[in-house]
Amino acid sequence: MSNKIVLLPGDGIGAEVIYAAKDILEAISKKYNKTFEFSSYDIGGVAIDNHGTPLPNETVEACKSSDAVLLGAVGGPKWDNNPSDLRPERGLLGIRKALDLYANLRPVKGFKKLLHASPLKEDIIQGSDLLIVRELTGGLYFGQPSERLDSGNAVVDTLAYTRREMERIIDKAFQSAQLRNKHLTSVDKANVLESSKLWREIVEAKKAEYPDVTVDHVLVDAAAMKLITNPTQFDVIVTENMFGDILSDEASVLTGSLGMLPSASLAEDGVGLYEPAHGSAPDIAGKGIANPIAMILSAAMMLRYSFDMNEEAQAIEDAVEVVVNQNYHTADLKNDNGKVVNTTEMTQLIVNAI
Ligand code: NAI
Ligand code: MG
Repeated sequence: MSNKIVLLPGDGIGAEVIYAAKDILEAISKKYNKTFEFSSYDIGGVAIDNHGTPLPNETVEACKSSDAVLLGAVGGPKWDNNPSDLRPERGLLGIRKALDLYANLRPVKGFKKLLHASPLKEDIIQGSDLLIVRELTGGLYFGQPSERLDSGNAVVDTLAYTRREMERIIDKAFQSAQLRNKHLTSVDKANVLESSKLWREIVEAKKAEYPDVTVDHVLVDAAAMKLITNPTQFDVIVTENMFGDILSDEASVLTGSLGMLPSASLAEDGVGLYEPAHGSAPDIAGKGIANPIAMILSAAMMLRYSFDMNEEAQAIEDAVEVVVNQNYHTADLKNDNGKVVNTTEMTQLIVNAI
């Protein structure tokens, strides 16, 4: 059976790291005798340049008829002054909505060898291993109206959710906690926001369905502080779209670099999309020095969640760990005793380890 994978390289380092992930999947294909069929489509800035829209229909159709999607990253200074419907990020929000990718799973686990690469103290991050479950298709990034008012002198953005949208992400988080260490931290701003009050009510009501999971509620501002002062208290964190966006970049500090953090975006019943947590990194784009590990670990998540290839996914994760333990790293990680390699070299080391 052939597994159809759509590649959406996007912009900046997105295109550099996605071909690294493809090389890794080809190594897996050889070793485990699996067939992957790849096709590439435009999204983001490159799609604006080639098709006049950040999300061409043919890209959406290809994703819908695939078995899984790998996405690099979108955006860059070239398009920063475009009107909002011609911004690369619109492509990203559009594909999440089109595939109904409501659940974004972001595992954050530091490698032992890289503990000192984090600006945080080793004894604080030692043993941290958490999963951020972020709602991805609702909230402020999608709510309407979102516009300038009063001749540009006032603005409105809307944080809207339905009960059903909250329930499905909270269920996903409880189920994720059941597969891990059975502790769920729900992050909200229930002392201020009406949306957070309903969110908290739903979490409370759902506890009965998952009696093996312990639950606590933390306000988002306190959660931001705890994440870097006492990260080991967390197992699974569930939160709405924007809070999750912010907290997951913050959590990347535990791993030493945003370039280490993979993610899976899942639908209830449909194609999954896998992408690194980082963006297109215009400051290093074109230099060939991007860290491909976040993208490669995203491909491992794809094998696990979309193709049920647990052994193959584990093989990728183990290979990454082997190379990290050999003290090789890309330039984004601060590691004085390490050996600095570029994107291609890092990819080849991981291929060899597989
Ligand atoms: P960014 O994540 O692209 O970069 C932040 C910093 O981390 C930069 O210094 C960058 O060099 C570094 N970095 C990120 N990934 C790296 C990697 N794999 N290897 C080495 N260093 C890495 O975020 P920034 O700079 O805020 O945004 C740049 C562009 O990316 C913007 O246009 C933004 O809208 C877009 N963006 C796209 C996302 C996506 O496609 N999912 C997510 C976040 C931002
Ligand atoms: Mg972000």
